[in-house]
Amino acid sequence: MTRRFTITTPIFYVNGAPHIGHAYTSIACDVIARFHRLDGNDVLFVSGTDEHGQKVEQSAKAQNVPPQEFADRISQSFRQMQKDMAVQTDEFIRTTEARHKKAAQTLWEKVAESGHIYLDAYEGWYSTRDEMFVGEDEITTHPDGSRTAPSGAPLEWVREPSYFFRLSEFQDRLLKLYEENPDFIGPHGPKREIISFVKQGLRDLSISRTSFRWGVEVPGDPDHVMYVWFDALANYLTAVGYPDMQDPRHVHWPADVHVVGKEIIRFHCIYWPAFLMAAGLPLPKRVFAHGWWTVEGEKMSKSLGNVLDPKALADEFGLDQLRFFLMREVPFGGDSNFSRRSLITRMNVELANDLGNLAQRTLSQVARNLGGVLPERGTLTEDDEKILAQATLLPDLTRRHIERLAISDALEDIWKLIREANAYIDRQAPWVLKKENPARMADVLRVLVDVIRTVATLLQPYMPDTMEKMLDQLGVETGERHIAALETLLPGGRTLPKPQGLFPRFVEEEKQA
Ligand code: ME8
Ligand code: MG
Repeated sequence: MTRRFTITTPIFYVNGAPHIGHAYTSIACDVIARFHRLDGNDVLFVSGTDEHGQKVEQSAKAQNVPPQEFADRISQSFRQMQKDMAVQTDEFIRTTEARHKKAAQTLWEKVAESGHIYLDAYEGWYSTRDEMFVGEDEITTHPDGSRTAPSGAPLEWVREPSYFFRLSEFQDRLLKLYEENPDFIGPHGPKREIISFVKQGLRDLSISRTSFRWGVEVPGDPDHVMYVWFDALANYLTAVGYPDMQDPRHVHWPADVHVVGKEIIRFHCIYWPAFLMAAGLPLPKRVFAHGWWTVEGEKMSKSLGNVLDPKALADEFGLDQLRFFLMREVPFGGDSNFSRRSLITRMNVELANDLGNLAQRTLSQVARNLGGVLPERGTLTEDDEKILAQATLLPDLTRRHIERLAISDALEDIWKLIREANAYIDRQAPWVLKKENPARMADVLRVLVDVIRTVATLLQPYMPDTMEKMLDQLGVETGERHIAALETLLPGGRTLPKPQGLFPRFVEEEKQA
């Protein structure tokens, strides 16, 4: 039976151009989605843009553009960014679409019908940058009297009629959810943070605004627009065709994992499951928070002028090189720093030296010494058996890492095999066997081709374009590139195309004075 797998990114605010942080989340989810597709699963990969709320409205105003026009333009630039990053989503949700408004309004109606919404007035602090109500106990007051949110964002005092969600009633059910489903929140740091926050007690949540108009209308009360997070979270249901239970995508609910940045876990681990419980809908299986990227040691910000454009980086270093670096540099869940130096080092050491040389050394000897014809599997020595056994174990090992969203650990194990293969080729020295024992040379080269095939197959989700080329060079046909195909040996006798280096060394040009 095919397994279904549903994964989402956060939907991104359209208040500014996409940067490396948005590319990172998108690529990470793409790697996981591609792995599952390669493994024969029925995947739904969802992303999109979050287009309502005060923050977007203000950004549009600052540029003198009507908010819808502004949202159209920036939403398109997020789509383009994902295309440029080879991120293949199945659904891209825009919250200004009619299908989304319908989903958000139906969710609201269900929550209201179950008695979890009431009208009152909100009075308190609001951070527009975070689109978040901030409790007194979370505020920092500065010597000049100004106040900021935990994120450092400025606060404004809000006082207006508002609908409230009875979040306070969900404390026990949420704690029980976390307890009974230890994997619901990952990794451990954010999980502890959420549990202790919920244990302190939950206040009812203001879920509508009346002081501006740029939002989804509250059903039955057009003076109110929905709080942007109620609207935004509903996108995950829009993606599966909600409220149409007959929609073919409906089988993709609940999601297997919502991947998010760690700054928005409260919305995903507290509010979202509580809204769903109130509406009587199944809960996602997992929320996973990844870490935060800084750039050359600094927080990315417009004022520092260090906001990294993913397209410019891909143009300079190569898209697959960039994807590889982002996935390799940091254990998924941890914080990381983007530096040109470490990107270049990884390109030269891990891609050019380790993987590139392995493939190039092997394939150029097949071309030169075997007329480019793939030999049959020969008689195996103990050394051959050892490396082939390591290769045979790798698909399952990789699958288990991906299952835990350990996308960099998977790379670490793939690189163990690559390094082992380089040691093997040095030990076996096929260039010496060429004269002494050509039959044995062919056996060794065949073992290497099989090992590289495993590596290239498993690396497709990370570096789709380059691995396609590598598999071409290995003579692996398009129908033989999924993970299950690794169980079948390639037939000998295929003529391989002329090999070409895939990972050139990167030499940083001297800075001009
Ligand atoms: O929060 N490092 O949208 P957003 C790593 N619309 N990831 C980063 C990053 C960085 N420096 N900067 C951004 C919102 N991200 C809401 C979400 S979901 C229903 C609504 C990534 O435009 C990371 O995934 O502020 C983060 O969670 C997301 O972009 C926030 O994008
Ligand atoms: Mg943000």
